[in-house]
Amino acid sequence: MADTATGIAPQAQDAAPEFPMPRQSRCPFDPPPALKDLQEQGPLTKVRLWDGSEPWLVTRYAEQRAILGDPRVSADTDQPGYPTKASPEAGEGKLSFIMMDDPEHARLRRMVTAPFAIKKVEALRPAVQRIVDGLIDDMLAGPGPVDLVDVFALPIPSLVICELLGVPYEEHEFFQEHTKTMVRTTATPEERGVATREVAGYLAGLLGKRLAEPKDDLLSSIAGRITAGELTHQQATEMALLLLIAGHETTANMIALGTLALLQHPDQLALLRETDDPKLVASAVEELLRYLHITHLGRRRAVTEDIEIGDQVIKAGEGVIMVNEIGNRDPEVFADPDRLDITRDARRHVAFGFGVHQCLGQPLARMELQVVYGTLYKRIPTLKLACALEDVRFKTDAFIYGVHELPVTW
Ligand code: HEM
Repeated sequence: MADTATGIAPQAQDAAPEFPMPRQSRCPFDPPPALKDLQEQGPLTKVRLWDGSEPWLVTRYAEQRAILGDPRVSADTDQPGYPTKASPEAGEGKLSFIMMDDPEHARLRRMVTAPFAIKKVEALRPAVQRIVDGLIDDMLAGPGPVDLVDVFALPIPSLVICELLGVPYEEHEFFQEHTKTMVRTTATPEERGVATREVAGYLAGLLGKRLAEPKDDLLSSIAGRITAGELTHQQATEMALLLLIAGHETTANMIALGTLALLQHPDQLALLRETDDPKLVASAVEELLRYLHITHLGRRRAVTEDIEIGDQVIKAGEGVIMVNEIGNRDPEVFADPDRLDITRDARRHVAFGFGVHQCLGQPLARMELQVVYGTLYKRIPTLKLACALEDVRFKTDAFIYGVHELPVTW
């Protein structure tokens, strides 16, 4: 029977809201308005996923960090209650230690931490600067408009992770195409399966070559773990796949979306263009990570023992989604959170997650973004969008938010 005041059936009124929620096309940099409303109402609420399951959605910063830091949550997709992916088409799949719990997660992660340590990453800064300068030289040598994603945003992190891993960059079109399918929420399980098998098969082949003839790269070091009996060939391949995907898709989207956000905030862009202070550039990187939060579908976990949050109990066997993009806009932590302000101290953001799974590649991502944001707008001060904002295609259909193309000219 319909409610007389609203005309809505009582069960529909009580039903958990659907997740993910739509963004507002007028505000492509902001989280969906419904998330803001939920955050105002309280730290957690039930939502409904495409398959009818109802995990908890955690919207406030403090509770998100508390749960992500709690050993009673599991990142293992096989755990009962683990919130299924974004859409019926998305399919599931295991991607090495990002989907494992300690102690196995820690054992595998430790094998590849060394190259991402701050000192090692800083040693790569001059090489990254050369890559960025070279790509800008190429852009300026040709006519505009160009697609910034294609000629700049994607090549930078791809070249860097290829160099680190020892994957020949000449193969970038092959793996970028397949990676795009793997992170597209609308890909069918078959499409995702084919894409994953193609790249995994390719990486397994490269690992085989490094087993026979090691070089000075991360693939050789991973292959060494196979020889030592610490990893199977399959585990080594999954690890290489995780690093290849995480190493380029994320940073590429931050470069393109960050540039678009700055072009839409000319006062902030001017600050960045005119500064010689590396601290302000670093601050801009943190603020753009906070403001844009590209891993927009949340950190997903299954709860393995009851967890009390305020007066609410999340029960063992229930799923929980920490939607960090709204955590990064929590007014309790960031004053005037919807304002892009590159001078604020945004370092507490949760754009790299929190807890044991916190992003392994964050020093590398930070350094790449600092070089890009500190160089591009100085070298091309007249950089501008070559189409209307309404014509930019945003990646609402991908696990990692960004833009499909970014036509720019100067
Ligand atoms: C702006 C760029 C990046 C963003 C926003 C980002 C974001 C994230 C987030 C949110 C997580 C946590 C996942 C979770 O808790 O479930 C994560 C994990 C991870 N990231 Fe990144 N990432 C970026 C760049 C990179 C780069 C360059 C690499 C290099 C290979 C990388 C490698 C990883 C790995 C291996 C994990 C899994 C860590 C673990 O499970 O212990 N990421 N990243």
